[in-house]
Amino acid sequence: MLAAVARTGDHVRRNRAVWDRWAAEYAGPGLLNWASAEPAWGIWQIPEARAGVLPADLAGRDSIELGCGTGYVSAWLARRGARPVGLDNSSAQLATARQLQDRFGLRFPLIHASAEQAPLADAAFDLAISEYGASIWCDPYAWIPEAARLLRPGGQLIFLVNSPLLMLAVPDEDDQPATERLLRPYFGMHRFEWPDDESVEFHLGHGEMIRLLRRSGLEVEDLLELQPEPDATTRYPYVTLEWARRWPCEEVWKARAVTRRCVRRAGGGAGAGW
Ligand SMILES: C[S@@+](CC[C@H](N)C(=O)[O-])C[C@H]1O[C@@H](n2cnc3c(N)ncnc32)[C@H](O)[C@@H]1O
Repeated sequence: MLAAVARTGDHVRRNRAVWDRWAAEYAGPGLLNWASAEPAWGIWQIPEARAGVLPADLAGRDSIELGCGTGYVSAWLARRGARPVGLDNSSAQLATARQLQDRFGLRFPLIHASAEQAPLADAAFDLAISEYGASIWCDPYAWIPEAARLLRPGGQLIFLVNSPLLMLAVPDEDDQPATERLLRPYFGMHRFEWPDDESVEFHLGHGEMIRLLRRSGLEVEDLLELQPEPDATTRYPYVTLEWARRWPCEEVWKARAVTRRCVRRAGGGAGAGW
């Protein structure tokens, strides 16, 4: 069983440095996503109409995007009537988000902070969302309780991540796609570091994720396992279309803040009761 204790490690600082360096590469894709009227999710750009990630009615909803990067998810939410706030750990990513806000004439607050310790009031949002943001770059034992703290009772947490299956099958080398062999253990899955860069990612198995969500006061509503269309393309080298058509490489969790709140901050521990 995974020792479910959030480490106040160096990952926030390391990921900030990495994302400040990578930000320039993400400006172009960010622009394309800002320009797109229809949301398209993940590395295969699966259209919202097929993926069904967003709630039907966003009008007047307060949303927080945790790890907003260039801010296009929040832009999509704003165009659907929500009142978004974007939060990110990288000043360079937020600089791109601000430029894109100016370019598209669509402004919403942007906060420079770690999603593991958001400088925001309790119960201030109806929706917390993350597409490959806090959802993979923050320690889940820290950011999920923090997201739960930010939600009003009845509010929703929606986040997109790599599937655990992909994380077992993807080689250490940066440019190599996932294999048909499991390369690392499922049990104990938590922190991932790669030989080619300084970044730190986090991924949990499904049972551990369900227990963490429930301990944080969130009831699981859905787990969407995304399958790309037969003609989909991606700019990322770590998974082929053939692989992703056979096994889910991305998934979307949906969970709702229950009325009776029992929010634990980092360090709740495996087996801590809800
Ligand atoms: C792949 S981007 C995802 C954001 C958005 N979907 C996009 O593509 O622009 C990952 C983002 O997570 C942010 N991030 C990493 N660690 C974070 C943390 N501790 N708190 C908030 N954001 C973080 C990075 O700075 C980066 O902007």
